[in-house]
Amino acid sequence: MKTTFLSPAKLNLFFRVLSKRRDGYHDIASLYSKINLYDSLNIELSKKDEFSFTFETRPEADFASNNLVLKARNLFRTTTQINTPLSIHLTKRIPLQAGLGGGSSNAATTLLALNELFNFPLTTSQLHHLACTLGSDVPFFLSSSNLAYCRGRGEIIEEISSSITYPLYVAKPSALFLSTPTVYQHCIPGEASSQDPKELLASHLSGQPHYVNDLEPAALRLLPELATLKRDLLAMGFDQVAMTGSGTAFFCIGNIASPELRGVDFYPVHL
Ligand code: C5P
Repeated sequence: MKTTFLSPAKLNLFFRVLSKRRDGYHDIASLYSKINLYDSLNIELSKKDEFSFTFETRPEADFASNNLVLKARNLFRTTTQINTPLSIHLTKRIPLQAGLGGGSSNAATTLLALNELFNFPLTTSQLHHLACTLGSDVPFFLSSSNLAYCRGRGEIIEEISSSITYPLYVAKPSALFLSTPTVYQHCIPGEASSQDPKELLASHLSGQPHYVNDLEPAALRLLPELATLKRDLLAMGFDQVAMTGSGTAFFCIGNIASPELRGVDFYPVHL
């Protein structure tokens, strides 16, 4: 029986915030892509419930209390009434509070893994419903395609079968963190772009990509060091530098071998 499940990170190749909604969320339109940077989850049937984690990235103090793996496990249990004890070990490699979707991906991977381990008690639409309860980014990570155009609060997923592949670097400032709700609180819809998201999507699919992120100006206001970092990354010679999601990681495109910058962790990845 399979016991190890990979949980990928994502980038938002463009991110439009269209409007603030009455329920407190924002309507967005974004092109999400999985990347080859993974956490891994080891899940086995056990005599009693156990949960442990190791960090191969920089830890965050309150990770243990707010991690989404246990929330996803608990939601699976209350929905299916399958309460078999489980031993779960999470290995974290995706940087936290980076806009890379690590927590959301862990939640989706937990749902998929438990559904597989217990012989598929939940339908695709039930899984989608549970994923929406766990967070706006979680449904994307249920999808089997690497690429998806996401709308609504993030949960309306249009899988894209055509592939976009190129190498890039994720640059994560090691000591700068931003929480998603804080960035949304400070964002102004349409601040970085007013371009029709369908045109942005077409620009990426035709190989002439426009990288814009309406959350980026708010993140840079909240942490001015991020504006300095973006300038430094461009000065190193990268052609394009854009924030992913609510930050603080940037993705950097350009032909630079082994980039180095004080206080920044670089991850060579590809879409
Ligand atoms: O859905 P999730 O729990 O990840 O969202 C965290 C917070 O981010 C929300 O409570 C909301 O403040 C903000 N958010 C938003 N619009 C979205 C997604 C998240 O305003 N589309």
